[in-house]
Amino acid sequence: MDESTGKRKSIPAHVGIVMDGNGRWAKHRFLPRVIGHQAGMKAMERTIDNAKDLGIRYLSLYAFSTENWKRSRSEVQGLMGLFRYYLKGKMESMHRRGARVRFVGHIDAFPDDIRDIVKAAMERTEDNSDIDVIFCVNYGGRQEIVDAVKRLMAQEIEGPITEEMLCRLMYAPDVPDPDLLIRTAGELRMSNFWLWEGAYSEYFFTDVYWPDFDRSELERAIESYAGRERRYGTA
Ligand code: FPP
Repeated sequence: MDESTGKRKSIPAHVGIVMDGNGRWAKHRFLPRVIGHQAGMKAMERTIDNAKDLGIRYLSLYAFSTENWKRSRSEVQGLMGLFRYYLKGKMESMHRRGARVRFVGHIDAFPDDIRDIVKAAMERTEDNSDIDVIFCVNYGGRQEIVDAVKRLMAQEIEGPITEEMLCRLMYAPDVPDPDLLIRTAGELRMSNFWLWEGAYSEYFFTDVYWPDFDRSELERAIESYAGRERRYGTA
């Protein structure tokens, strides 16, 4: 609902996606997991184009969670290789498409070269305004809240602590809370994604594995969202 006009918005301003099922997609094809992640990267690129085309202004993608370090060394290395490939090879086309690329999470834990290209990508695209693509990497919702509290404690606080104070200290305070959170591959949970910001988000779950996520599936999610009534806790 658009609170200023009272009218329902059919296209959510901010869509967040937990891109799950790359491993199972590969397993079904007797392929290594990293091939599933490669196919997942293609689905991601397709989804960025489709989101822009449909008028979604902010798209956030859960690309690497704080828990993903626990995967095998070869899988973590494979994912790092994909990040490198994607960031080096695809940023110019993201820029041409008018996308502003952003990263949230503890990027400092990533290898130096990845941190450098992340920084360059953010700088290169910072004036673009067709769509903000927010990559959540080494991101965890609980960690984000802990970080906000630490920053709050470092300040001189006058008066009571409010939600607004914490909101301002989250990783991307200028980005509106997600209207719609999507998770693929049949799991019915959000696994620490946008824990604070997703308090009033609508959820959409699909059995489709992330590499098979296409425009029709995104449209199905948006249709489902548009048919719901958002009351933000009011009667
Ligand atoms: C979940 O599938 C997916 C991930 C942990 C990684 C997501 C990465 C990509 C979509 C590709 C690359 C991204 C960038 C930013 C270049 P899973 O492995 O948990 O699948 P499973 O549950 O079936 O095992």
